[in-house]
Amino acid sequence: MNVELIQHPLVKHKLGLMREAGISTKSFRELANELGNLLTYEATSDFALEPHTIQGWNSTPIEVEKLKGKKVTVVPILRAGLGMLDGVLGMIPGAKVSVVGLYRDEETLQPVPYFEKLVADIDQRTALVIDPMLATGGTMNATLTMLKNKGCRDIRVLVLVAAPEGVRAVNAEHPDVRIFTAAVDSHLNEHGYIMPGLGDAGDKIFGTR
Ligand code: URA
Repeated sequence: MNVELIQHPLVKHKLGLMREAGISTKSFRELANELGNLLTYEATSDFALEPHTIQGWNSTPIEVEKLKGKKVTVVPILRAGLGMLDGVLGMIPGAKVSVVGLYRDEETLQPVPYFEKLVADIDQRTALVIDPMLATGGTMNATLTMLKNKGCRDIRVLVLVAAPEGVRAVNAEHPDVRIFTAAVDSHLNEHGYIMPGLGDAGDKIFGTR
């Protein structure tokens, strides 16, 4: 299983808070964004830098480092992915946002795109795909295929909790895509929930449970 499990104490602490029964919408939402922020920090740690000479505070030139032309698009998967968006943008405020939505066809059980608003130059950007839960991997795989069909080559997935089934499914179909997660939980139950998981993350973020 190829996955980058973020072991930072703040990540573990915040995810633990999210797992508690009866957590308020406000707390769940705040924590989803805080974890989105921390996962972004980890998922961008290999971005290249280049030297720049700037005019310093007392008018002497200083050598500093700036990101080397790395352009990012954040790709929240509707609806729950929106719950991590502010946190990710808190770390990369200039990133463009490409929103996708997919539903599951009742007959084929396959994910079908119903909304797709991607930035025009997505083929020149690193895509950070965000969704709190990586369950079966079906929606994620369809999203990754959609982005690759638009020419996107550097894609990273950021999720709060992953099921081993979902990680294996993404690894199998998109071995080039790195997955960053705060936890890999035990398994999917018969209703498709990650166990122990967080419950329905979308409902908890939007207060619709
Ligand atoms: N989506 C959720 O919100 N929770 C799960 O456990 C699985 C999919």
